[in-house]
Amino acid sequence: MTVKVSHTDDVQGLFREACGFNNDQGSPRLKQLMFRLVNDLAKIVEDLEVTEDEFWKAVDYLNRLGGRGEAGLLVPGLGLEHFLDLLQDAKDARAGLTGGTPRTIEGPLYVAGAPVCQGEARMDDGSELDRATVMFLQGVVRDAEGKPVAGAVVDLWHANTLGNYSYFDKSQSDYNLRRRIVTDAEGRYRARSIVPSGYGCSPDGPTQECLNLLGRHGQRPAHIHFFISAPGHRHLTTQINLAGDRYLWDDFAYATREGLVGDIRFIEDTAAARDRGVEGGRFAELEFDFQLQKAVAPEAEKRSQRPRALQGA
Ligand SMILES: [Fe+2]
Repeated sequence: MTVKVSHTDDVQGLFREACGFNNDQGSPRLKQLMFRLVNDLAKIVEDLEVTEDEFWKAVDYLNRLGGRGEAGLLVPGLGLEHFLDLLQDAKDARAGLTGGTPRTIEGPLYVAGAPVCQGEARMDDGSELDRATVMFLQGVVRDAEGKPVAGAVVDLWHANTLGNYSYFDKSQSDYNLRRRIVTDAEGRYRARSIVPSGYGCSPDGPTQECLNLLGRHGQRPAHIHFFISAPGHRHLTTQINLAGDRYLWDDFAYATREGLVGDIRFIEDTAAARDRGVEGGRFAELEFDFQLQKAVAPEAEKRSQRPRALQGA
């Protein structure tokens, strides 16, 4: 028979003391969260009869996860980052905040402070032109009524042909494939970049180790991340996932959503390529418009305060 003690006065007293309920210092909010967390963990240990070996293996796993900086990768891998989107969608629906481009997960690979460009940008540093396909990406940012938004900041970032991101991949130049493009008077942004590759979790990393035990792969389809912001409009965190990728609807991070599939077109036309300044005759075009909701309060214009990387920091 299963023995359970977590509900007893002794254990509850222990957890209350451990979570700082017997002092008036610290953060009441953290005390509340930690008390719930400790209690739920204790219940898991009891209900699922977690062995000591399993418990300490999990503690060791957390050490290794943090050591590799992969906590922000496991979270989407377990569906929790997408859950946060679904929860926010439900809150929005209840508040009547609907319409516009769907949100989707940010992921852990944003770097703040990318170069700001007016209307258009060249995003790649040219170092992969021997193997990359040049991509022309453009679109319009619109408001809730469908009118173009001039001066919106389209802050976008994506991986290179190897599926790696600058800053995290030290072999790339600073801010390679990261730009902030300010929309022109017609609300338009234009970027010349390279077609990104999808990518997977490190095969030898702790996230993939967990996914292996869940019988899952750790692959993402090719995609492009966006933060879109403009005064008076609600901040949007989203991604375009590229049509034709084998992982489009089998994304380990659950980021692909209806309304966020980018219909990328590959064009083989030497003359057209030359007109656009592309060697080799092959390039890609991707057009994607965004629609922002109205900001109901000034805080809605800002992205979350999630800790993020900053180049040079
Ligand atoms: Fe990504």
